[in-house]
Amino acid sequence: MGLYMNKLINFIVGSTLILLITGCDDKSISLSEEDYGVLDNGILIKQYIFENDNQMKVKIINYGAIVVSIEVPDKNGKINDVVLGYDSIDGYVQDPSYFGAIVGRVGNRISKGKFSLDGKDYALAINNNENHLHGGIEGFNKKVWTPEITELNGLPALKLTYLSPDGEEGYPGNLNLEVTYTISNKNELIIDYFGTTDKATILNPTNHSYFNLSGEGNGDILDHVLKINADYFTPVDKGLIPLGNHESVLGTPMDFLKPKKIGERINNDDNQLKVGLGYDHNWVFNNWDGTLKLGVTLFEPESGRFMEVFTTEPGVQFYSGNFLDGTNIGKNQKAYQYRSALCLETDHFPDSQNNSNFPSVVLRPGEEYKQKTIYQFSTK
Ligand code: GLA
Repeated sequence: MGLYMNKLINFIVGSTLILLITGCDDKSISLSEEDYGVLDNGILIKQYIFENDNQMKVKIINYGAIVVSIEVPDKNGKINDVVLGYDSIDGYVQDPSYFGAIVGRVGNRISKGKFSLDGKDYALAINNNENHLHGGIEGFNKKVWTPEITELNGLPALKLTYLSPDGEEGYPGNLNLEVTYTISNKNELIIDYFGTTDKATILNPTNHSYFNLSGEGNGDILDHVLKINADYFTPVDKGLIPLGNHESVLGTPMDFLKPKKIGERINNDDNQLKVGLGYDHNWVFNNWDGTLKLGVTLFEPESGRFMEVFTTEPGVQFYSGNFLDGTNIGKNQKAYQYRSALCLETDHFPDSQNNSNFPSVVLRPGEEYKQKTIYQFSTK
């Protein structure tokens, strides 16, 4: 590996702070900051804009640690924004669908909001029928995070920190979570998570971006070709709570071991697809050992856009946008229709604390929670 010399340039243009990192290969990545919007309580939310030399541009706000947009080229160099979102802060404040946000403390469902830890029973906020979903009534997706522009592995980075107080939504312990976003010149969006607590608690955050590789608002995702490196998934009951077992994907519509169109079997008369109203399940990655591995690939044939998802996590919740119904009015007043985007939420399995055979989501004082997930974009 050659010597990589970084030049870090930090300057202010008007009210915009620009951080520019130049490598000796003449490639540069900039990160700038601008005002985004004001909450009803008067708090000013900032937007952070990453840009690289390969036509990738990513916007993030410190409300919900939300990824607002990801612009990447298609095979002909045409730029599209490939994630759903809104045009202003009000859209995100009212959003019921977790567009682009970090969800937590625990992503996905916890059965009846109940769990025990070290012999103590906890009751969490109930916000999804009789269950707890995505951190509760006011999860991390609705919080103001403290932003800091920094540098990570030679790249400009945005570190967003949220201190979740003891008892919030019923969870024990003061939990400190840092989510650091970076982009690279290989068109990667890199997300690093780091968490600590002062009392034993449970933590399982993820990013809830809705992807459509044709461009947001541009049709459904049924022709997207998906591959998931998982021999097993975790079947669910009618409340979408895992039954606790691992079931083989072989011979079922859950089999994405070889690349397959999402629409190919989504309307199959399969019991799991019926309860999920489509795909809304956790897949169990093969050979999980906590190191960064390629777990999922997604290809959209017309644009040629290809996305690879690398993660340190044991599973992924693949959700095919089954609750989108045209009522989310998104960017440029577009109504986001049924299955017009999909989520690939890398994390531990839903309801882990109530299933002792699932990898643990417990975090104790003195321990460090770490997750790394990369969404990498290219074309073919
Ligand atoms: C997750 C869940 C879905 C749904 C969406 C948000 O992916 O698994 O059931 O709640 O979030 O609408």
